[in-house]
Amino acid sequence: MMADFNSYFLMNADEVIKYVRSKTDFFDGSAQLTCAEIGDGNLNYVFRVIDEQSGKSLIVKQAGDTARISDEFKLSTNRIRIESNVLKLEGELAPGLVPDVYLYDSVMNCCVMEDLSDHTILRTALMEGRIFPKLADDLTTFMVNTLLLTSDVVMEHKAKKALVQDYINPELCEISEDLVYSEPFTDHNNRNNLFPANKEWVEQNIYADDALRFEAAKLKFAFMTNAQALVHGDLHSGSVFVKEDSTKVIDPEFAFYGPMGYDTGNVVANLMFAWSRAHVTNAEENYVAWLEETIKDTVDLFAEKFLVSWKKNVTDIMAKEPGFDRWYLETVLHDTASVTGMELIRRIAGLAKVKDLSTISDEQQRVRAERICLTAAKQFILNPASYKTGEQFLLVLKDSASSHNMQ
Ligand SMILES: Nc1ncnc2c1ncn2[C@@H]1O[C@H](COP(=O)(O)OP(=O)(O)OP(=O)(O)O)[C@@H](O)[C@H]1O
Ligand SMILES: [Mg+2]
Repeated sequence: MMADFNSYFLMNADEVIKYVRSKTDFFDGSAQLTCAEIGDGNLNYVFRVIDEQSGKSLIVKQAGDTARISDEFKLSTNRIRIESNVLKLEGELAPGLVPDVYLYDSVMNCCVMEDLSDHTILRTALMEGRIFPKLADDLTTFMVNTLLLTSDVVMEHKAKKALVQDYINPELCEISEDLVYSEPFTDHNNRNNLFPANKEWVEQNIYADDALRFEAAKLKFAFMTNAQALVHGDLHSGSVFVKEDSTKVIDPEFAFYGPMGYDTGNVVANLMFAWSRAHVTNAEENYVAWLEETIKDTVDLFAEKFLVSWKKNVTDIMAKEPGFDRWYLETVLHDTASVTGMELIRRIAGLAKVKDLSTISDEQQRVRAERICLTAAKQFILNPASYKTGEQFLLVLKDSASSHNMQ
């Protein structure tokens, strides 16, 4: 019977209330509950259940066997198992930096978790020019802890391989292989939908750049084969919730064993979108200065904490060879630069755009912001070994901005 939640169906708001009452003792039996679907994503349904009297609330995220945006897009509900279990693991490795998971239900394919409605999605907050002093510190702690501590240098190797197996994520990886690593360079599926005022420029400077496409091909197969650490896999500014004194990473449904630089590069690139928007729209100086510090700190604090954590946590006997820590970190920074470039390109020249740029209403400003990001992206992809400090990462972006000053 439906009301027992013993077999899977997509719930509506009333059914979610019954579900929460039957599966958890979070709310008092007498509580008056209200529920609304608040999701704005492409894939899943997100419900908020609240007891107005006490103010207590929680979130139920349910996966369908098609994407929310299109019934034609079949997608296994396995993604909510991955999301729930990865959130729990990340909560252990990086306490306080992800929502608490109250329940994962493998029949109903849903995750019941902490309500973070007092936080704002980082992308929205950045577009409002808001400053979050702890952001770089929190995100670098999150990345060092979740990445280094799930890698072979720290974990017992058979336990690590068991995790590789648990988090094989073929369908969601395929989305990244297509949207990040293929279509932005070829448009072979005819769905990139370029900003018309930049279309010709993108065709000439991205699609027609053989050296760039060659590097992108190499990076695609590194993404597919380098099972280095349990990466979040979708660590853009829409997957981070912020409040003045709090940072929470959500939505790890794309998690799998991949290159560490995939996460770090995504964070850096998405901060760069915010910077480009701020730059072309002449945002407040304070805000721009904070963003620049945050970009630099994301790289530098990551490197610093990585080496400290390495010293404390590394177990593999060969990984303890003198100098190996710095060599390994350099490979991660190299990958960070490459992925920064890939993310910058795919959000402009690929299917999935970012609001930071797509909502710039002045056509010339948007043209500039896109070209700033794309020009920087090419540097990162073509010369990834040149960027080892936050200052060097930021300089590429600023140089690119100067080169596009006169439009
Ligand atoms: N724990 C939470 N607390 C409060 N709001 C949340 C929570 N989780 C998600 N939301 C809200 O629901 C929205 C969609 O969530 P999420 O990104 O996890 O869904 P999704 O379907 O996986 O989306 P996407 O297509 O971006 O992957 C978020 O932007 C946020 O507004
Ligand atoms: Mg998602």
